[in-house]
Amino acid sequence: MSVDRGTNLLTMRDIGVRFGGIQALSGADIQVDEGDIAAIIGPNGAGKTTLLNVISGMVLPNDGTVLFDGQDISTQPPHKRARLGVVRTFQNLEVFSNMTVLENVMTGAHRLVEYGVLASIFKSPGYHAGERRLRELAIDRLEFVGLADKAHHPAGDLPYGSQRLLEMARAMAAKPKLLLLDEPAAGLNTKETGRLAEIILAMRDDYGISIVLVEHDMDLIMEISNPITVLNFGSVITTGTPREVQTHPEVIAAYLGEDD
Ligand SMILES: Nc1ncnc2c1ncn2[C@@H]1O[C@H](COP(=O)(O)OP(=O)(O)O)[C@@H](O)[C@H]1O
Ligand SMILES: [Mg+2]
Repeated sequence: MSVDRGTNLLTMRDIGVRFGGIQALSGADIQVDEGDIAAIIGPNGAGKTTLLNVISGMVLPNDGTVLFDGQDISTQPPHKRARLGVVRTFQNLEVFSNMTVLENVMTGAHRLVEYGVLASIFKSPGYHAGERRLRELAIDRLEFVGLADKAHHPAGDLPYGSQRLLEMARAMAAKPKLLLLDEPAAGLNTKETGRLAEIILAMRDDYGISIVLVEHDMDLIMEISNPITVLNFGSVITTGTPREVQTHPEVIAAYLGEDD
């Protein structure tokens, strides 16, 4: 798929978020271009998840603006942003364990099909056609992450690493333009993390999805992302290439100061 590499997709200007007495973000500027796998790194509590919440609309900033595709979305609710193509995964696993793998992925795609309440109650032809398209889309995304053979298994029976991949498939079923991933490698072993890296790269290269990646696994970050933004105490220390960030004195100091 062709992506307009280099065209601006997301611009966050001077973002400030306060929770009571805590300044979770201050003066944060972030820019993501089409085709970027843009990483956000920083010690625990630096404001990474809050930043993703500001992009998805779950947190409205006290200061600053969020532009997506040239449109000011600063005050738009999450479902409107999802409709524009801003989709996220969560830091903690959010799989519906009593639903099948396929049903889980279909929940991700439901916003794409517009049929009214009556159509779904009376199961009209439009409803059936819509459900069929959702199924096909969901199966395609399961094939993409390598879980198609598990489509009819209860999601809760999958091993943890596969549940993480299921979340990726579900997010992709929503046809994101910009996908926000909050610590997707958490709890994965080295082999699973390698597979995740391939999947993230293919999301960009085969599906034209731009990505904001919050992650603690530095090997993964350095391997697949550019640019990298480093947050500390809610402020951006620097944004640069993996090499620039790794040799930046303030970045080294921020990480040396971390206890975990
Ligand atoms: N809903 C909230 N209410 C109060 N404080 C919060 C809330 N969400 C995050 N914080 C605080 O904001 C800061 C940044 O948190 P977070 O964005 O989760 O950091 P990170 O993801 O980098 O670990 C932390 O001090 C955290 O305790
Ligand atoms: Mg977090």
